[in-house]
Amino acid sequence: MRRFFIAGNWKMNLDRAGAVALASAVAKGAVEVGAVDVAVCPPSVYLDAVAQAVRGSAVCVGAQNMYSEPSGAFTGELSAAMLLDLRCKYVILGHSERRHILGESDTLVNKKTHAALAAGLVPIVCVGEKLEEREAGRTADVIRTQVDGSLAGISADQLRRVVIAYEPVWAIGTGKTATPAQAEEVHVDLRKLLAARYNADVAEGVVIQYGGSVNAKNAAELLAQPDVDGALVGGASLKADDFLAIIQAGVELACGR
Ligand code: PGA
Repeated sequence: MRRFFIAGNWKMNLDRAGAVALASAVAKGAVEVGAVDVAVCPPSVYLDAVAQAVRGSAVCVGAQNMYSEPSGAFTGELSAAMLLDLRCKYVILGHSERRHILGESDTLVNKKTHAALAAGLVPIVCVGEKLEEREAGRTADVIRTQVDGSLAGISADQLRRVVIAYEPVWAIGTGKTATPAQAEEVHVDLRKLLAARYNADVAEGVVIQYGGSVNAKNAAELLAQPDVDGALVGGASLKADDFLAIIQAGVELACGR
C-alpha cells in the first residue's frame, strides 16, 4: 500500500527567520497526518534551522540538491553525508530547474541517485516534459529517457526507496496545472515502465508524486487519481495554510485508499 507523500520545495526563497517561521507553522499544523508523509525542502543554508524547528513533529526535512561525490574539491557542493548530518531524510534530484537552467544531465542525476541511496537518503527523482515536447507528442519518450537515464543501475530493492516526481515543465510555477487525467495518464505510463524494467510488484509500491502548480484548490482532485501518490509543491508550499490544506487533502483521501 503506497502512502501519500506531500513535499514542499521552497526553492531559493525566504530568509532564515522566514524559513523557521514557516517550518514551525507547518509542524504545528500537521498534527494528525496519519498515513501521509510530509517533508519541507528549504534552501540548504537553512536546513539546520528548519530541522530544529520541525523536530519532534510529523514533518521531515529534505534538501533540494546534492553532489554525487562523498567529499573533495567540489567548490560549492554538498555531499549526501553532509545532508544526513543536517538530519535530512530526502533529497530532490534532477528537478527541472536544475536540468534546464543549470544543465544537469540524466547521467549526473543517476550518479547523485546512487550516492543518495548509498548514504541512506531517500531521493525524489524528478522527470517531466517541456511544453514543446508534449505538443510534439513526445511526452512518453521524454519520460522514458529520463527514467532510464536517471535510474540506470538502480536495483529493484533500491527502487523501493526511491520517490519519483512527475513534474511537467510547462506546469511548474506557471499556474497551469496538468489536468488530473493528464497527470494520471503519465503516472500510469511511469508505473508500466517501472514494471517492465523491474517487476510489477516493485512498480506497484513506488510513490509517484505530481508536481506543477499544485495548490490548495486543485490538490484533492489530483490526489484522487489512483496513481498519483502525493505532490511536490513549489509556490503553494511557501504559505503554511495552503501547504497544510494540501496535506489535509491527502489525509482525507488516504482513508479511502
Ligand atoms: P510549483 O513548483 O508548485 O510552484 O509549480 C513545483 C516544483 O517545481 O516542484
